[in-house]
Amino acid sequence: MIATRLHPDKQSAAQAVAREIAGLIEIRSKSGKATVLGLATGSTPLPLYAELIRLHRESGLSFRSVITFNLDEYEGLGADHPQSYRRFMEEHLFRHLDIPAANIHIPDGLTKDAAGHCAAYEAAIRDAGGLDLQILGIGRTGHIGFNEPPSSCETRTRWVHLDEVTRRDNSVFFGDLNQVPHGALTMGVATILEARRIELLAFGEAKADIVARAIKETPSDGCPATWLQRHPACTFHLDAGAAQAL
Ligand code: F6R
Repeated sequence: MIATRLHPDKQSAAQAVAREIAGLIEIRSKSGKATVLGLATGSTPLPLYAELIRLHRESGLSFRSVITFNLDEYEGLGADHPQSYRRFMEEHLFRHLDIPAANIHIPDGLTKDAAGHCAAYEAAIRDAGGLDLQILGIGRTGHIGFNEPPSSCETRTRWVHLDEVTRRDNSVFFGDLNQVPHGALTMGVATILEARRIELLAFGEAKADIVARAIKETPSDGCPATWLQRHPACTFHLDAGAAQAL
């Protein structure tokens, strides 16, 4: 069952989710526990990351006890590539916080051993105690992370082939479709579903159809976001545009 929360705009959604993350970090750090966050890239979480940075600067929210695992990374792109998700996260979040570098995990797009690297990524999430809270966006193909259709609910962190719709959507960041990688490493659907809480953000009319499908369609490999219906604590945070087909 997916809960939906309609927000007046993306800033309000970002503030609500940032408050939730801040509350989680504060409660857990009081009892000496780390907070394990699953993070997304793309344009959707940008206002959320801006709000977390604001809370750090203005309200003293510390990320010293936070451990992060990003959902995905493009194949073949390393930290020095401007479109790598490693670079994106540094620029839009990590370099502005007090999170220890050793606590940050992002799949390595340059790995020569994808299977071994992905198995180690799964093990690192388990060793950290599992994901307390996962942030998600949603792609127009119904992908969460880069789990393109078809993706079963049993998939784990692995190499995937990117859908052409996704490559075209993301070409705005690269400036040229030919520069967009064809593959990526992504957490699996099962990996995501094991997070104790999931907060998905979607803004704008372009997301309305896929948001409605994710919530209303019978769960299937053909629309991986439908698997979120099986999660006991998943909320979609929407603005009016993204909610208009509900
Ligand atoms: C990003 C990710 C993707 C995006 C999705 C939406 O780490 O895993 O699933 O969340 O492609 O992208 P935007 O936010 O750019 O519309």
